[in-house]
Amino acid sequence: MFLFNSAVMGFGNSLWMHLVLEQFDNMVTNVANSYRIQEECDVLSLVLAQYEGPIILMEFKAVMLASLRSLVPKDWDSAHEVAWNWFWENIEHMLRALMGKPATQQHALDQFILGLSQDQLTFLRREIYKRFFTLAPAGQDYFKQSTTRLYWIADKVVEMTTEMFKDPKRLVEDISALGLRHVGYGIPTEFFAPFVSAAVDAVKTMEAQELAQDAFRWSLTLVSKILVRTILEGSTIVMKAINTNDAKQLRKAISVAPRGKRAQELLNITVGTKSISPLIWSIESGSLVTAKAMLEDLLVIRADRDNYYFGCDHLFERHPEIIQRLSFDAPQLLPTLLDGLIWRSRTTMNGQRRVNYYVKHLIQDAEGHFNQALAWIVEGHDPKIICHDVVVLFSDLLWSGLAGHTFLLGRCYFLFTLAVFIAGQSILQQLREDLQNQTDGERIAIFACRITIYVFSMGALLINQVRCLITDIRERNLVKLFGVLPFPQYLTNTMQIGNLALMLCLLVMCTQEPIFHCLSSGEADFKDLLFHQHCFAGEQRKEAYATISMVAMLLYWALLLDLTIFSMRISAFTLVCGRVLSELGLFLSSLVFLIVTFASSIAALNHHCEDFINIPVGALSLMEISLGMFPSQNFQEIQDEISVLLTVSLFIIVVIVFLLNLLVAQLNGAYASVYDDMVGYARLTRGSIIVSALEGVSANRWQRFLASLRFEERLEFNEGDVGLAGGIQVTEPANEHPTTVENIRRFGGSTSPAMPWPEEVHGDEAEDKLDRLEKVILRATKKITSRSKKNGTGSSSMAGSSSQMSSTSDQDSSGADGSE
Ligand code: HEM
Repeated sequence: MFLFNSAVMGFGNSLWMHLVLEQFDNMVTNVANSYRIQEECDVLSLVLAQYEGPIILMEFKAVMLASLRSLVPKDWDSAHEVAWNWFWENIEHMLRALMGKPATQQHALDQFILGLSQDQLTFLRREIYKRFFTLAPAGQDYFKQSTTRLYWIADKVVEMTTEMFKDPKRLVEDISALGLRHVGYGIPTEFFAPFVSAAVDAVKTMEAQELAQDAFRWSLTLVSKILVRTILEGSTIVMKAINTNDAKQLRKAISVAPRGKRAQELLNITVGTKSISPLIWSIESGSLVTAKAMLEDLLVIRADRDNYYFGCDHLFERHPEIIQRLSFDAPQLLPTLLDGLIWRSRTTMNGQRRVNYYVKHLIQDAEGHFNQALAWIVEGHDPKIICHDVVVLFSDLLWSGLAGHTFLLGRCYFLFTLAVFIAGQSILQQLREDLQNQTDGERIAIFACRITIYVFSMGALLINQVRCLITDIRERNLVKLFGVLPFPQYLTNTMQIGNLALMLCLLVMCTQEPIFHCLSSGEADFKDLLFHQHCFAGEQRKEAYATISMVAMLLYWALLLDLTIFSMRISAFTLVCGRVLSELGLFLSSLVFLIVTFASSIAALNHHCEDFINIPVGALSLMEISLGMFPSQNFQEIQDEISVLLTVSLFIIVVIVFLLNLLVAQLNGAYASVYDDMVGYARLTRGSIIVSALEGVSANRWQRFLASLRFEERLEFNEGDVGLAGGIQVTEPANEHPTTVENIRRFGGSTSPAMPWPEEVHGDEAEDKLDRLEKVILRATKKITSRSKKNGTGSSSMAGSSSQMSSTSDQDSSGADGSE
């Protein structure tokens, strides 16, 4: 309406009116707050100072009144006319007082700051803090950072004073965000006045021009005013509780929030156009105790007669990336979040218990696409988290519903090529003892198998490798090999290395293929034979071809190992085998070292034993001894040479008695250490396969899958009690997770969303007392145990039982600490 009227009244070209209009709402809504009006006028005067063209403030009043009159023609009367006139005249008065000043002030301030030498700058920075600490000694408790950091902040402050003139709108936005960060730092607003005075005094001592001093003071005061305002608006009790990092304080602070806004209080504080999330702030500032309490509070299901309240939706809507945030910045909070997504019934029926898993936001994002939650959990590489009930449930859903089939389809192709490869290299080839007796049909079949492999298997592998290479180069996904050599990142994946090796083997096989070489040989003996391999060139390459074919066969089978992912047990076993391989490597390298050592020392002896006549022969014999392949009758010969006999005996003791048993012990140790996590690692592997398989799933299939999960349906808690949507209900054996605690907190009384929840009886104090008592008992038990051990008193059974007690007490106390 305003713009229409301004155009009609002939002020269409007065674009400065738009600038006023942008701040007009703030001015009108804060008409009773003279400080705020002054602040808005200060900022507006800076914005208008950058406008090139005439500004006649009276014109704005005319358009404003005309617009208001036409907006509310019936209600408009002389009282309104007087009020709005008064309002605009005040604004005009304030703006007029500032008009023309900003440009000269900006120039003077720029001159002053640019003219400062390095020494003068250091002096100014030091002086600001010196003077501030004299004016407000308590300020030292907040500025605890290193001097360099404080100097950096001082530079920023000075920079802001000039920026305010140059880009006032952006700076107001930035200051809102900065103010919210100062709320997080817990800075009382009383410190801002002395800080500004200190900075202004410090500038005065630099003998700056009067105009520059004025500009600095005016600009810094404005910055400080906006900061203080945002701090006051943003200092909610929740933010204050975060600074104390005390869960009890937080619970107390949030208990007064209306039940309908409780989740928002924990997730969103808005000042102007900027907002901050107390939850994320507490994670960023390391107040993890309060962050944990917030997550717990958000994920408690509360209910009155009318509604269920559960912060899960609010949490994921406000922070769709919360899983990523937690996995990287606070992984210890992930179990709290995941635990909160489970509801377990206290009651059981026919030995079964209902369990609701609220996993909607872990599977789909706000737009209904695949959520990256699983990818982030896999990136976190924590074998414990991936085995959490919630993650197991939703990843298994994705696996059985979508990814498993897609993955299997991909592997079916590979299985088929393996079958063809086996047929072409190991079955058809071996049907006749003499290859010359092969029938035409057999030779054609072998040729067909090999061509299929070269075209379809090698071709597919080649395309895949080139595609991955190009993607990595394009996206600069390069890792440094030995710290210098750039290396495409896709080759850090073992399967991809296997694929590359197989492709290279097939490539070499293709170049050495005897059938190809015989095709063009034209030798008279085999003129009538189709696709034979017996020509001279073919015979020459046969040996090398067969060896590479054997390696390729091994690689084919090794690459099939990822099919084990269908069974977590087998997959975990394969992973364990891979992990303990390094121990075997250590054993083999020590064995080689010992063989070389003993073979060279036996060769130095004066003997006539044929088996150890020189180093290579000796090394071979020692290797046969180690592997139990040395013929026993050859020991007879060794016995005749006493010096050789003694050295070989020493070798046998070191290798067979010591090293082999050490290997067993090593394998045992390594197995035990990875055993606990092996299913977790198997699940991590499956997780990464799910993530990559889902990238290729069509939108239609994905939508069908989502529809089958029916997240929009509300799930029953107990019979007839229809609760919350967004989850999946399963039943589990009653004794799997026995619980006697009701997970839903129900409250009587008013059901108005504007009412806070009635005070909950936490029994915190009683719990604290019990905790303390338990700790005293545990400490006493420990002391008694250690004393009795020192004195060596007590029977063996006593010692046994006491050590058992102490270990339990250790566990308990660590558990108690952890939960604190
Ligand atoms: C006009 C006044 C002020 C301005 C313009 C200002 C500006 C800044 C800026 C730019 C930072 C940099 C860090 C960030 O971006 O979060 C900062 C950090 C900080 N400020 Fe202020 N500040 C002012 C007043 C104060 C006062 C009066 C105090 C306390 C007595 C204070 C305490 C802090 C603290 C504790 C930090 C955090 C330092 C860190 O992260 O290591 N500030 N301030």
